Amino acid sequence: MSNPVLTLHVTTVLLSISGFIFRGILHLRDSDLLNRKWLKISPHVNDTLLIISAIILVQQAGLNVLTTPWLQAKIVGLILYIALGMTAFRFAKTKKVRLLAWIGAIIVFSYIVAVAVSKNPLVWLNIL
Ligand code: HEM
Repeated sequence: MSNPVLTLHVTTVLLSISGFIFRGILHLRDSDLLNRKWLKISPHVNDTLLIISAIILVQQAGLNVLTTPWLQAKIVGLILYIALGMTAFRFAKTKKVRLLAWIGAIIVFSYIVAVAVSKNPLVWLNIL
């Protein structure tokens, strides 16, 4: 991986999902750690870097989002990942909804990675 922007992108991708899984486990255990300021701020810093690196990668590759279905799938997936994450960590009133949203977000995230690697938005249909 000789492109530093791609390295940044993939690093923030890995930090995003590991932090997301970690925070979910803390929620399940009602941990006091969740009140730590760094744990509230760092995901936003990381996800901002993830999106900035994504925008630069699109520019570097000369891709047009309007005519590239796998990029469109990634954007929709990212929006879903954020919405499910907000449901899991902010809006959910019960543990059941929190857990379902958390698991849903992890599945959506796996789909985005599969699309990123295959460059095919229908990647999960091909393995059926
Ligand atoms: C949670 C969201 C995202 C995840 C998990 C993710 C994951 C990845 C991964 C794993 C790669 C490396 C693929 C490879 O080298 O085989 C990659 C590359 C890339 N991603 Fe993302 N990405 C996300 C969001 C985005 C967004 C929103 C965009 C832009 C719309 C984007 C654009 C790109 C581009 C252009 C590449 C380089 C593809 C290449 O030239 O090989 N990514 N992404």
